[in-house]
Amino acid sequence: MINKGIILAGGTGSRMSPLTKSVNKQLLPLYDKPLIFYPLSVLMLAGIKNVLIIVNKGQLAQFRKILPENNNLGIKIQYKEQFKPNGLPEAFIIGEKFIGKDNVALILGDNFFYGQSLTKTLKKNISIKNGAKVFLHPVKNPNLYGVATINKKNKVIKLIEKPKKTSSNLAVTGLYFFDNKVIKFSKTLKPSKRKELEIVDLLKKYKKSNNLKAELIGRGGTWLDTGNIQDYYNASNYIAVIENRQGLKIACIEEIAFKNKWIGKKNILDAIKFYGNCDYANYLKKLI
Ligand code: TTP
Repeated sequence: MINKGIILAGGTGSRMSPLTKSVNKQLLPLYDKPLIFYPLSVLMLAGIKNVLIIVNKGQLAQFRKILPENNNLGIKIQYKEQFKPNGLPEAFIIGEKFIGKDNVALILGDNFFYGQSLTKTLKKNISIKNGAKVFLHPVKNPNLYGVATINKKNKVIKLIEKPKKTSSNLAVTGLYFFDNKVIKFSKTLKPSKRKELEIVDLLKKYKKSNNLKAELIGRGGTWLDTGNIQDYYNASNYIAVIENRQGLKIACIEEIAFKNKWIGKKNILDAIKFYGNCDYANYLKKLI
């Protein structure tokens, strides 16, 4: 069972410079809310109430302003700083104390997931006891991603980072479920040529012990990249189209908490006060 989640929200955001020179990417707007709301909403939809957010050294105060530890979401938020972007698996070294003896989910702070069966898919996999699980999504350009080949039982049998040629179009997304061995495995990793601990190397440790499984986010689901400016605006437009058509918000974190019965009316009223006179607060008013 997984009841803890880490959001990795540091990074240099170099591809988004100059936007990211003074503001962390995860605090930039993805349509009508900060980017970090989206990965947080995924953890909350999975039922995870205990969250560690890892941010760059020196950026804690900015994140706390929008997602304080003392929040209206009925969840426990903690922060840790990453000294510099040493790679994704460092999350489990920084988060060792937070994880304790439990299993843990990791989501990258700049990943966007959406779709009808997303919550069902998350809930189905949250009961993981042993091993690791990656979430795969078909992409047109697999050569830009970590790509997995799976067998009929959804076991990962091949994993290649940015392959020049591949017969699989299944990219490894930025959402992972791990058992507690992830701490030990991460500590044994050596930095790659680009001087980072690599998530692919970590996943390969699980693959080697025959314990790396995959879940498919099929074509009815959406996984979007927000790594470069064009992808960022595409994702923003996607959200705008859906929200303005339906009148329903994607990743309204208070709405998710309210529907999960983690918070009541009073928290929603406090959140409305916190956000002030804006479209997001008006949406919250409609909820109660
Ligand atoms: P990346 O896309 O690898 O890096 P980045 O966001 O810094 O962007 P760029 O490549 O343009 O420089 O990171 C994916 C996510 O993980 C992103 O949300 C930042 C986060 N991250 C960390 O928090 N710490 C790290 O050590 C790394 C590598 C990434």
